[in-house]
Amino acid sequence: MSGPITTEVRDGILIVTSNNPPVNALGAAVRQGLAAAIDQLERDDEIKAAVIRCEGRTFFAGADITEFGKPPVEPMLPQVIDRIEASSKPVVAAIHGTALGGGLEVTLGCHYRVAVPSAKLGVPEVKLGLLPGAGGTQRLPRIAGIEAAAEMCATGNPISAAKAQQVGLVDKIAEEGRLLEDALEFAKGVIGVEPRRSREVPVHGDPAFIQKFATENAKKFRGFDAPAANLRCVQAAVELPFDQGIAFERQEFMKLMMGTQSAAQRHIFFAERQAAKIDGIPEDIKLRDIKRVGVIGAGTMGGGISMNFLQAGIPVTIVEAAQENLDRGVGVIRKNYDASAAKGRFKSEQVDQYMGALTPTLKLEDLADCDLIIEAIYENMDVKKETFAKLDKIAKPGAILASNTSYLNIDEIAASTSRPQDVLGMHFFSPANVMKLLEVVRGAKTAPDVLATAMAIGKKIGKVAVVAGVCYGFIGNRMLMPRQVEANKLLMEGATPEQIDRVHVEFGMPMGPFQMSDLAGVDIGWHRDPNRIENVRDALCAKGRWGQKTGKGFYDYDEKRRPTPSPEVQAIIDEFAAKEGTKKREISDQEIVERTLYTMVNEGALILEEGIAQRASDIDVVWIYGYGWPVYRGGPMLWADHEGADKIVTGLEKHGFKVAKLLKEKAETKGRFNRPV
Ligand code: 3HC
Repeated sequence: MSGPITTEVRDGILIVTSNNPPVNALGAAVRQGLAAAIDQLERDDEIKAAVIRCEGRTFFAGADITEFGKPPVEPMLPQVIDRIEASSKPVVAAIHGTALGGGLEVTLGCHYRVAVPSAKLGVPEVKLGLLPGAGGTQRLPRIAGIEAAAEMCATGNPISAAKAQQVGLVDKIAEEGRLLEDALEFAKGVIGVEPRRSREVPVHGDPAFIQKFATENAKKFRGFDAPAANLRCVQAAVELPFDQGIAFERQEFMKLMMGTQSAAQRHIFFAERQAAKIDGIPEDIKLRDIKRVGVIGAGTMGGGISMNFLQAGIPVTIVEAAQENLDRGVGVIRKNYDASAAKGRFKSEQVDQYMGALTPTLKLEDLADCDLIIEAIYENMDVKKETFAKLDKIAKPGAILASNTSYLNIDEIAASTSRPQDVLGMHFFSPANVMKLLEVVRGAKTAPDVLATAMAIGKKIGKVAVVAGVCYGFIGNRMLMPRQVEANKLLMEGATPEQIDRVHVEFGMPMGPFQMSDLAGVDIGWHRDPNRIENVRDALCAKGRWGQKTGKGFYDYDEKRRPTPSPEVQAIIDEFAAKEGTKKREISDQEIVERTLYTMVNEGALILEEGIAQRASDIDVVWIYGYGWPVYRGGPMLWADHEGADKIVTGLEKHGFKVAKLLKEKAETKGRFNRPV
C-alpha cells in the first residue's frame, strides 16, 4: 500500500500506521488508506485484530481543515468511522500527542482506546465555529458520559489521558515510549471477543447537566452559535436513537459549516499561524540566542512583561530608578503569582522558582549581560531617546534593544543608538502577562534576524506576535483613533455613552469605547490642569471623574463597580454641544456602526496600503487578540469582507469620510481583503 497509510501484520494483528505530517490531518488519502486497511482486516482470516496508530508528533489532529469548502472526496470521514466500528474484529486506537476532532472521532469508531500519559484528547471543533460532525456528539456521551461530552463539545478544551481514563474514554494508559507494544498487548487480550461498538453503548450521566452547563457559561458563549449547537447535539444523543442522532448532528453541522461564524473562526485559525510568517525573511534564518532578558521599568507594563519571560524559564533583570518603585513593582509581581497559586494555576514551588529568576536592580549597567532588553517606561520621546543612548553604551554587542512604546516612532528611538539594526518595538498589551497579542514593530533599519528573533521569542512566551511597521499607534492603536474621534463627535450630536457602548457590546466587543475609557482611566494623557477645560474629557477629569478607580467617569459606579448613566456627565456633554452650536438629533444604532466601525475598516485599508501590516489577516489577529473583537466576526477586515466593501464605502461616503483607495478598489471590483476559507 502506498500513500500516508501503511499496514503490517505482527502476530496476527494488523498495525495500521498513518504518516501524514505535520499533524496527521485526516485528508482524502488518509481516509482512503484507512478504509482499505479495514478491508484488509475483514478479508484476511489470519488477521484477528487491528491497531491504528500515527507516526510523527501526534495522533490524527482532526479533519483536514484545508479541504473545507471544497468538493467532497469519498470516502467521507463518517463513512470511514462507521466502517471501523462495524468491523467484526476488534480495533484498538493507540493515541499519542493530540487526538483532536475527527481524530478523536476515529478513536470513538475504534472499539478500544490506549493512550500514553502525555496524550491529550479533545473535540476543538467549537473553536472553529463547528461541532464534531463525524459522529462525535453521539458517540462521546455513550463512551465518556453526558457531563464530559457536553463540556468537551461546548468548550473544545482537551482533557488529559488520566482524565479520559477516569471518564471511560481511555481503556488503558500505556507506558510512555511503549505505546505500540502496550496497544498490541491490549489487542491480543480482546481477540475473539465481540467488539464493543460505541453506537451500542447506552448514553449515561445526568441529562440535566446540559442545561445547567449552558446557563453557567452563558456569558462565555455570548454571541457564538456553535456552543449551543454542540449542546443540542449532545441532548439529541440523550433523546434519540443513534442513527437519528447522527442525522440531527449532520444537519446542525452543515448549518454551522455554511454560516459566517465558522468561516470567521477558521479564518482566524489560519490567520494566527500566518501571522508568524515574515514576508521576505527565510523561515530558517539563524536566530539570536536569548538567555537573559532585561526590562526597564517596574510599573504595570514592565512587571507584566517580566512575568511572561519568568514563566517561560528565562531569567529577567528588572530596573527601576527609585528603590521604592522597584520594591513596589517586585511586590506586585509576587502578589500576582501568589493570587494565581491560590487559584491553583501554579504550584507554590513554581512561584518561588519564578521569583528566584528575577533580579531587581537600580543600575542600568546591570543589563550588560542581557540578550534582549525591553524598555517599558512612560511615553515620552526625549526620555526614551536618552534611555536608548545609555543602553547603547551598556548593552553587549548583538543584544536586541526593544521599546514597548504604544505609539512612538521606533526609527527615531533607534537613531539615538549606534546600532539601529538591533532596535525594534515590542508592544505588549495590558495586562501584559495575560493578553495574547504582541505587536513587533519593524524599524527601517531593523536587521532581519532581530525581527525574526523577536517574533520567535513572542511565540515562546505564549504570545501571538504580529509584525507592524512604524506609524503613530502601529496597527491596533492607530485603528482605535478614528473610532474614538467619531464616538466623541456622536456624543455631541445626540448619542449617549450608553447607546454607543451598547452598540459595541451587541456587536460582540467586551465593552464599548466609554466603558473602556473608564476602565483604563479617563485621566490617561490628561494635561492635569483642572482650569484648562477644552473638551468633555477635560471637564470630567477636572471634576475628579477619572473612571472606575475614582468611582465615576463617563458612568457613575457603585461599590461593586456596577455602572449607571450619569446626569452630571450628560449635563457636561449638553453644555459642550450647546457651546459648539451642535444641534442634537436622534442617532440610529446603524449610524454608530458606520461611523465607529466602518471608519476602523477604512483605517485598516490605509494601513495595508502603506505596508504597515503585511496582510489583512494580521490586522484581524491584532483586533481579536489585543482588543477583544469577537472572533466569530473574524476581525475587522474579514468582517468587512462579509459586510461587503461596497456597503462600507456607501456608508462612509454618506457621512463625508475620505475613503481609502484600497477600500474603494475592493468595492469597485467586488474584491475581498482576505481569501475565503
Ligand atoms: N487541518 C489542516 N491543517 C492543519 C490542521 C488540520 N486539522 N491542524 C493543523 N494544521 C496545520 C497548521 O495550519 C500548520 O500549518 P503551517 O505549518 O502551514 O502553518 C501545521 O499544521 C502545524 O500546526 P500548528 O502550528 O498549530 O502546530 P502545533 O504543534 O502548535 O499544534 C495542533 C498542533 C494542536 C494539532 C494544532 O495544530 C491544532 O489545534 N489543530 C487543529 C485541531 C482541530 O481543530 N481539529 C478539528 C478539525 S475539524 C474536524 O475534525 C471536523 C470533524 O468533526 C468532522
